[in-house]
Amino acid sequence: MAKQSGPSNIAVIGMEWGDEGKGKIIDFLAEKADVVARFNGGNNAGHTIEADGKKIVLHLIPSGVMHKNKLNIVGNGLVVDPKVLLQEIKFLEKNKIRISPENLVISENAHIILPHHIEEDRKVGGTIGTTARGIGPAYTDKAARIGLKVYEFVDENIFKKRFGDEEFYQEYKNYAEALKPYMNDTTTIINYAIDKSKKVIFEGAQGTLLDIDHGTYPFVTSSNCTAGGACTGLGISPKKVQSVMGVCKAYKTRVGMGPFPTEITGAVGEKIQKIGKEFGATTGRQRRVGWFDALVGKYAVMVNGIDSIALTKLDVFTTIEKLNICVAYKYKGNILKNFTTNMKVLQSCQPVYEEFDGWWDDITKVKSYDKLPNNAKKYLRRIEELLKVPISIVSVGPKREQTIVARSEFLF
Ligand code: IMP
Repeated sequence: MAKQSGPSNIAVIGMEWGDEGKGKIIDFLAEKADVVARFNGGNNAGHTIEADGKKIVLHLIPSGVMHKNKLNIVGNGLVVDPKVLLQEIKFLEKNKIRISPENLVISENAHIILPHHIEEDRKVGGTIGTTARGIGPAYTDKAARIGLKVYEFVDENIFKKRFGDEEFYQEYKNYAEALKPYMNDTTTIINYAIDKSKKVIFEGAQGTLLDIDHGTYPFVTSSNCTAGGACTGLGISPKKVQSVMGVCKAYKTRVGMGPFPTEITGAVGEKIQKIGKEFGATTGRQRRVGWFDALVGKYAVMVNGIDSIALTKLDVFTTIEKLNICVAYKYKGNILKNFTTNMKVLQSCQPVYEEFDGWWDDITKVKSYDKLPNNAKKYLRRIEELLKVPISIVSVGPKREQTIVARSEFLF
């Protein structure tokens, strides 16, 4: 049967608190893409990709770099630590992934993270458990209109005038020089690519519940991780976003503080954490583990306009005897059917679960949806029913080839 023609651009968005496996999914989709454009965050992200016999963790550079001849864009919505970016370029080159202004461009309007942002984050970030990479303070300066944009950083006169007396000046002057060739007008580049019907991925970092406006504030990051962020973080009209793919895990995780109604404590939680290797790709911190929360899922579908879901890490559930899906919250004797970002309410919500039988067959080599165990399919079908969105991709392991396409019409 001929494949229905898919979208020409896809926004890939985290549906939870980050760490959903966006890096893997974007790398998978990128094979058929021309452009991968990241739109938010900074090196707080850790996008892990396992392909071509390599395992790479990207923090700033978009997840299209494992493929040749793709253009990777760092959008205006990011905060860029120049030292980290240059280290990442070196690290990739060591892994025989060549980076040049041919395959990487950085927005002249992105903001720069400077040492005092990191210092500040280390001092105050502890209360919400930030990644201490200077993200919040750099966005604070952006909003206060005292930030430093990439084009100002690479302009020796402007940078010297503003920061010439600082201790870090000499070191950072060299970074500015090295970064200069990558700087470009990414807004025009991406709009041109879209208008020419190039296949474009809008790469989100973190997830819906870490969004500064729509997340579990104040336990959030400082940028817009939701689909609207693709527009503001790259300079494109909402009319141009053709399709939105939400990425979620078979279970939930979160790092840092904040309420987490479906959190699993005890032996089952530890087992999932261990099998799922739930330790932060950026900070190495242990991730808290929870059951699938359909209220979170429905909320993410609503806020982002999700067309289809890429569900990751289904393999981690193999050998877990009973699985739960949270279908409602109990709050002060009432039943809530919708998620809430009111922290006062959320922290007192108790999950109401539906229970599912697990499966014992190893699914890490399964190549088609039909071949998944019946109990796995029942679990997935219930998620589709509750969220009212089809699952287009099921990931059954970290490697690129461990990816099942369930509905190809949502892919390129
Ligand atoms: P910040 O982004 O470093 O300011 O951290 C704010 C919150 O977002 C903390 O709870 C972090 O753990 C969380 N966070 C930031 N980036 C990521 C990510 O890429 N994955 C998961 N959590 C993240």
